[in-house]
Amino acid sequence: MGALAEVEPRAFRQALGQFATGVAVITAQAGDGSAIGLTMSSFNSVSVDPPLILFSIDRKAFSLQAMTEAKGYAVNILGRDQEHLSNKFAKALGDKWAAVEHTLGHMAAPLIAGALAHFECTPYAHYDGGDHVIFVGRVVRFSAYPANEPLIFFRGAYRGLQGTERSPEWPLPMHY
Ligand SMILES: Cc1cc2nc3c(=O)[nH]c(=O)nc-3n(C[C@H](O)[C@H](O)[C@H](O)COP(=O)(O)O)c2cc1C
Repeated sequence: MGALAEVEPRAFRQALGQFATGVAVITAQAGDGSAIGLTMSSFNSVSVDPPLILFSIDRKAFSLQAMTEAKGYAVNILGRDQEHLSNKFAKALGDKWAAVEHTLGHMAAPLIAGALAHFECTPYAHYDGGDHVIFVGRVVRFSAYPANEPLIFFRGAYRGLQGTERSPEWPLPMHY
């Protein structure tokens, strides 16, 4: 592979899709009191002391500004049976919250019922990530439900740990 200018975006996205991830929904309460939710595969752990996590949001996401202004947010790790929620929260401007069972956590960030784990965070840092903004959150509370199976995202398709493959509902223009 040559200089960076020669990186072909489609091939690059495809190569990035070789990295299997889980699927999370990032949630927060916007300044106007409405609930925000975005499907994210870019979640990762960062630090234990202090307890930090990260994810990166596309600069084109409608919720980006509200997320940068939020005083807190939550990471909801989706289970195998929550594929429909991944699709729902990946549709910009949709009615994302209809019939989504949840409670309110730190700074009124929604905690989605049935998630594998919740991480409630206060904003720690925002970094430039090119066409994305990198969010680092400091975890103030968490819960985990280890009995459930995770939802996996790999090569642009949903899978379970057993390897059964299903395409996402939403045609994704990105590498996620
Ligand atoms: C499996 C999956 C993973 C995704 N991961 C990310 C991600 O890491 N960062 C991102 O900005 N968008 C990601 N998306 C796309 C956003 O969920 C989508 O653009 C969403 O509509 C953004 O919400 P908004 O535009 O209403 O703010 C992902 C979508 C899917 C289906």
